[in-house]
Amino acid sequence: MASLDELLVSSWFNVHSSVPPSYVHPPETRPGNPIPASGKTIPVVDLRGHDPAAVAENILKASEDFGFFQVINHGVSEELMKKTLKICKDFHAMPGKDKVEECWRDPSGRCKLHTGSENYSRDAIQYWKDTLTLPCPPSGEYVQYWPHKPPDYREVVWKYAQELRKLEQKILELLGEALGLSTGYLCGKLSENPTLLVHHYPPCPEPSLTLGLAKHRDPNLITILLQEQDVNGLQVLKDGEWIQVEPLPNGFVVNIGLLLQMISNGRLVGAEHRVVTNSTTARTSVAYFVYPSNESVIEPAEVFTKGGTSATPTYRSMTFSEFRRNFFYKGSNIEPELAHSNIKS
Ligand code: OGA
Ligand code: NI
Repeated sequence: MASLDELLVSSWFNVHSSVPPSYVHPPETRPGNPIPASGKTIPVVDLRGHDPAAVAENILKASEDFGFFQVINHGVSEELMKKTLKICKDFHAMPGKDKVEECWRDPSGRCKLHTGSENYSRDAIQYWKDTLTLPCPPSGEYVQYWPHKPPDYREVVWKYAQELRKLEQKILELLGEALGLSTGYLCGKLSENPTLLVHHYPPCPEPSLTLGLAKHRDPNLITILLQEQDVNGLQVLKDGEWIQVEPLPNGFVVNIGLLLQMISNGRLVGAEHRVVTNSTTARTSVAYFVYPSNESVIEPAEVFTKGGTSATPTYRSMTFSEFRRNFFYKGSNIEPELAHSNIKS
């Protein structure tokens, strides 16, 4: 078995003129040629509105209609966004051996580098991507295990994680309020364990045959994604059509995950999305995943199940640990496991 530094896509993508067979997806799931992209766009929400209730309503509407939107005027400095992307690109540009060496420090193994999906060794078909996972709870306890190279890496990325924490809390508070949840409902234990996923998608000789990430819903409350200005790749499935998410200057992409789908009893739905590759330009993205603490109970909130029209819970209650376990084994086929009708007696 090859070692991780040899397996990383960034270590070998440029020695092939075609996609290796283990990366060729079946005709039903590969992007095809031309890669489909409808001319539609996802909504944009300006967070600087003078009336917080109106901003909250805009977030809710975008979440209900698409489960995906971009935010502008979000308070994170343009300079910090640029510096973060640059240093994350610099990390992935280092030799494979150096990258692997920078990712062994965490005794819990949560801070890690991998290639393809989280289940590389079990996947029959691989994905055109490498990912660095950086847990970033507000305590900062994991920062010591993050890469020490490039030299400013930890300083820049930790500053970024702290700014993203503020933005995450603001979005969750507004969204919670618009949904009728009590103040702070989503802002405590349910969002205690954020993690950064620093993805890198090298150029690919045959983008029509492979994928950077398969169609999926995120296993979290929300994701806040920073992407490069001039490279497309992220696509959202809406009414059977793939919509390209064009990067907006200084914008973040926000999407609803499966956990908010459960908490809102299906009022919000985690939108399906995927990442396609291109033949000329490497793409780096930084996804901030809002995760709960492991012992948090994930279940439909009372406002969605008491009285009203949809009074029955659609989802059963489970701890986040249990959800994680299910997600690990079932991947994107997890939804039947989450159903209320699946309660085992
Ligand atoms: C993810 C994801 C999109 C991207 O990390 O789940 O969908 O553009 N990332 O990298
Ligand atoms: Ni995703």
